[in-house]
Amino acid sequence: MIDNLRIEIESIKEKLLNEIENIQSHEEFQKLRDRYLSRKRGLLSSLMMKLKELPAKDKPLFGSLINTAKKFTEEKLREAEGNLGTESEEKIDGYLPEFNIVAGSTHLITFIRRSIENIFLNMGYLIADGPEIELDENNFTLLNFKEDHPARDEQDTFFISGYDNLLLRTHTSPVQVRYMKNNKPPMKIISPGKVFRKDEPDATHVPVFHQIEGLLVDSGITFSHLKGTLELFLRTLFGNETLLRFRPGYFPFTEPSAEVDISCFLCSGEDKKCRICKGSGWLEILGSGMVHREVLNNCGIDPDKFSGFAFGLGIERIAMLKYGVTDLRYLYENDLRFNNQFG
Ligand code: DAH
Repeated sequence: MIDNLRIEIESIKEKLLNEIENIQSHEEFQKLRDRYLSRKRGLLSSLMMKLKELPAKDKPLFGSLINTAKKFTEEKLREAEGNLGTESEEKIDGYLPEFNIVAGSTHLITFIRRSIENIFLNMGYLIADGPEIELDENNFTLLNFKEDHPARDEQDTFFISGYDNLLLRTHTSPVQVRYMKNNKPPMKIISPGKVFRKDEPDATHVPVFHQIEGLLVDSGITFSHLKGTLELFLRTLFGNETLLRFRPGYFPFTEPSAEVDISCFLCSGEDKKCRICKGSGWLEILGSGMVHREVLNNCGIDPDKFSGFAFGLGIERIAMLKYGVTDLRYLYENDLRFNNQFG
């Protein structure tokens, strides 16, 4: 008997599938559901009545066959209902053209910033932030710029009219000051951000551009730590074979100071007409040095106990050298033909 019932269940399932195919409306759907699943009159519930007539040993098997068939029916009905759409008879028009969704891409400046951030995050540095409108004190005075330094000239710096102590920061170095004033060594930060200078826009100048500042202060920090750190950083960014050259330089807030060049990654000095190194074999990349004792002092850190190094670089310069951007203005015109090439 159980075998007959098994066959009956299978034929009910088959019939269901055939009937589902032909459903056109919600009304028909309701009727179909009742016919199969209604508690009293449904085909499956009526079959359940036969349970009584079965020998005890077949009852569990039969019960589970019915349950499986019920689940199967419910699932097929749910699918069919989904295919019918909503009550409002809203139909999807398969012939409408698709929306033109443009995913966009990361701006080159953001892309370079993130690549550099990742290198330093991997070395355990934190990312520190500072305001773009800065106090003269943080941008210049505490960084050891003297009163008559040319950068303080109206010609070079955007001062905020009506305030004699506010300006748009000309570099990211004031974040060093803010961080040292508010934290105790050891400290290890980088700080990316916008900086502002009164320059007429041309291929190599824009009045708003981006820098990344680095600062490390601890006890016993020497120039070797600076060299090792910059070597690891620049080789990760430009390739493992990159050579570094430290030239004496001058910044008011570091002593000694060094300008750092890398060997030309394009021609290695072989091409006398090289687009980027012009045959010299070297590319100027960043400014750096040991934090000036005066600056440590100004920020509440005892220079007899602690020492540190700092460095700063321009993101736009990396865009020009590494990604072949020939005119900085392209970075700010929002022309998608340019922007979509990167990131
Ligand atoms: N602030 C410098 C500039 O805008 C760059 C710089 C040089 C930053 C040396 C530093 C540094 O931290 O040590 O030209």
